[in-house]
Amino acid sequence: MGLKKFLDLGKQPIANGFLYEDDKSSEYFFNLGVAFDGDTKLVTQTEYVDGDLMFNDDYVYRGSMSKTMRDHFYSLSNYLKLAYPESKVLEIGSNDGVFIKNFNPKNTVAVEPCGNFAKETQELGYNTYSEFWTQILADKINMEHGKQDIIFSANCICHIPDLDQTFKAVESLLSKNGVFIFEDPSLAEVINNNSYDQIYDEHPHIFSVIALDNLLRRNGLQITRVENLSVHGGSNRIFAKRIGSKIDKTVEQNKAYERILGLDDLDTFKRFAVKVEQSKDALVRLLTNCKKQDKKVIAYGATSKSTTVFNYCGIGPDLIECITDTTPEKQGKLSPGMHIPVVAPGNEIDRSVDYAYLGAWNFISEIKDKEQEFINRGGKFISHVPVVKFI
Ligand code: TYD
Repeated sequence: MGLKKFLDLGKQPIANGFLYEDDKSSEYFFNLGVAFDGDTKLVTQTEYVDGDLMFNDDYVYRGSMSKTMRDHFYSLSNYLKLAYPESKVLEIGSNDGVFIKNFNPKNTVAVEPCGNFAKETQELGYNTYSEFWTQILADKINMEHGKQDIIFSANCICHIPDLDQTFKAVESLLSKNGVFIFEDPSLAEVINNNSYDQIYDEHPHIFSVIALDNLLRRNGLQITRVENLSVHGGSNRIFAKRIGSKIDKTVEQNKAYERILGLDDLDTFKRFAVKVEQSKDALVRLLTNCKKQDKKVIAYGATSKSTTVFNYCGIGPDLIECITDTTPEKQGKLSPGMHIPVVAPGNEIDRSVDYAYLGAWNFISEIKDKEQEFINRGGKFISHVPVVKFI
């Protein structure tokens, strides 16, 4: 059956490519098309962006920016230390160390192609390879540090175009009973929430358990357990081991649920594409009405997800004045493609703001807790997830 395109999200920039005024003319764009692979059941992009354009020394996404994610990795680390004591741990995509920092540097290896973040973990004493994850790198780590008992990766495996190479390299570096644990946004949740904004350059694939098991199996691994997580708008934590390992019931439960949702069927994605277009029309209509009523609308969280939404819907500074974000590396810059100014929070959720579009809708509870004053004085959030509405 091969690859069948079902969604066109139009011309898109690098989702985390926040830029200065002077860099506007050299901004890179690509066509964001999404397809279903009838053979593996993988949802994947029709064109992959070159890794160096996204993950380099200027990368701005910091995993440790939200308390939710810091707590998430802290409790996972505690669980892993108990469940797999004395393990050698390798992390693929260690970012600013939000996960690996919970482990003793002596038994860990970090892999992070973005030089700015690799330097941070290196300086804290973690063996950090500032390279992309490849078979060559896995072989080098094997020579220098030996096989690894836990290979962990969060929000990174779905960043890598060549999954066969990725999984082969993991399999080659795992110790005999080693476990590969990775978490990424769940396709089931994307379909349930109409969260098409999970699709951007850095997410060339959105994983179902069904597709992952197909891909892992052809590379010597199989899924042994699946945990459904609330982070990042709904993610799956996949546990994979060598073929022949014991499989728990969560694997078949998740696959059965995905079959009910139709994640193995192209027609499901064609229906999704129609809903995505309706979401775009509704959001633009809502923001245009706000503008007509002279309301001040900003966005909350300069996310990669909002890059997809703003560029797909054509939402610029005329509809959203600015975006607040806590990440120092994003502040003072313009949002990719639509060039909405990014500012530090505190200055902008001030008394003049009527509505805040939630770019970071996945952190809604943390944000609501922080913004009680805004809410109490009648300020409202806007989200497109699962349907366009005021919150
Ligand atoms: P995230 O949703 O992980 O983004 P992405 O779509 O890029 O994966 O990132 C959340 C962004 O929102 C991040 O830049 C930090 C910012 N943020 C705030 O500005 N304020 C907040 O209260 C929270 C929770 C996040």
